[in-house]
Amino acid sequence: MKKTVLIGVTACVAIYKTCEIIRGLQKAGVRAKVVMTEHSTNFINPTLFRSLTREPVAVGLFDDRPGDPIHHISLSKEADLFLIAPCTANVIAKLAHGIADDLLTTTALATKAPIVIAPAMNVNMYENVATQENMETLRSRGIAFIDAESGYLACGDVGKGRLADPSVIVSAVLEMLEVKRDLEGKRVLVTAGPTVEPIDAVRFISNPSSGKTGFAIAEAAVRRGADVTLVTGPVDLDDVEGAKTVRVRTACEMFLEVDTVFDDADIAVFTAAVSDFRPSIVADGKLKKGIDDEALTRIELVENPDILATMGKRKRAGQVVVGFAAETGDVEANAREKLVRKNADFIVGNDVSEGKAFGADENQVLLVTKDDAKPLPLMSKADLANVILDAALEQ
Ligand code: CTP
Repeated sequence: MKKTVLIGVTACVAIYKTCEIIRGLQKAGVRAKVVMTEHSTNFINPTLFRSLTREPVAVGLFDDRPGDPIHHISLSKEADLFLIAPCTANVIAKLAHGIADDLLTTTALATKAPIVIAPAMNVNMYENVATQENMETLRSRGIAFIDAESGYLACGDVGKGRLADPSVIVSAVLEMLEVKRDLEGKRVLVTAGPTVEPIDAVRFISNPSSGKTGFAIAEAAVRRGADVTLVTGPVDLDDVEGAKTVRVRTACEMFLEVDTVFDDADIAVFTAAVSDFRPSIVADGKLKKGIDDEALTRIELVENPDILATMGKRKRAGQVVVGFAAETGDVEANAREKLVRKNADFIVGNDVSEGKAFGADENQVLLVTKDDAKPLPLMSKADLANVILDAALEQ
C-alpha cells in the first residue's frame, strides 16, 4: 500500500520548492497530500498543489467538506508522516506552544504520525533565541528537523534560513518512511507484454500476455531510484511514470530496442512473452478466403531472434540478467535448462497451465538459479516485482 505524506505548507517564499518535494515523493511511489495555512495562499493558489497531487487541498478549519465534518482529525489519521515544508518561525512557535488556531496546526496537534519540520525564514528570525528555543522544545518532543541551509535569502540577507534542498528533504522523508532507494544510480531494462507477428494486414500471431509483471517491475525499479527503460509489446497499460516506456509490436522491433540499451543496463529483466516464430511472408493487404487459401492454410514460419539468449551471451561482468520461463509442466527443470541455454543469472519459473498467470494480478513462481530453486508464496505482481529486484541485487 502507498504511504501518505501530508505536507503542511506555510507562508514563505520558499513555498515554490514544495512542488519539487511533491514530485520527488511521488516518483518514489509516495502519495502526497497538502494542507496550507490561509496566509500561504497569498503566495500560491491551492489549485497548483491540487493539480500536482491530484488530491483535494485543505486550507480552512471550517471549510465545508460534505461527509467529513472534522477534517483535521481525518487528515491527521491519513498521514504516515506529516512534513511541514517550508515552515515559518510563526508556525514553529505555535507548534512549540500547542497552539491550534488553524487547520495545519490543529492537524499537527492531532496527528500520531511522526512530524518533520523543514524551517525557512530570515537569518535574524532563525537565530532569534525565541525560534531557537522553540525548535529545541519541539526536538525534545521527538519532532525531527531538516536543517535550514546558509546562503542568499529572499529578503537579500545572507545567512542561515534557506529551506533545505528539496532532494535533501525528499531523501530524509523517504528514509523515515523506510522507502527503499537501493537502485539509485542503477540502470534497469525491462521487456514486457506479448509481441505481435503479422500474417497480413489484419491477422497476426500473438499470445495473451498482459504485461502486468513487466510494468510492475519497471514501476518498482523507478520507486527504488533506478533509471528505467521499459520496452513493451502491445498492452493495455499506461506508460510507467518516471520510466522511459518504448512501445513496439514485433519481436524484431523489441530486439532492436533492447540491443541499443542493454550494454548500459546494470539489471535486465526479460518478462516479455516473445513470439518464437513469425510468418516468413507478410501479405500487404488482407488475405481472402477462397482466393488466398494456399497462403492462409500454410503459413510458413521463421524463427525470431531470442532476445534474452543474445543479451545473456553478451553479458558483461557485474551485469545481472533475469529471464522468465512460462511453462505448462516441470517448471524447475525447464527453467534451469533456459538459465543455462540463455546464460541468465536466474529465471523466474512460471506455471501457465490452465491459463494461470496470464492477465492475473497475483502470481506464484519459482526462483531458479544454477543450483537452487526457491518456491515463493502466491503474491501480488507488485510484491513479486520487489522480490525479483531484491534477488537481482543479491547476485
Ligand atoms: N525470450 C526472448 N526472446 C525470445 C523468446 C524468449 O527474450 N525470442 C525470453 C523471454 O522474455 C523469457 C525467456 O526468454 O524471459 C523464456 O521465454 P519462453 O518463451 O518461456 O522460452 P523459449 O525459449 O521461447 O522456450 P519455449 O517456448 O520452447 O519454452
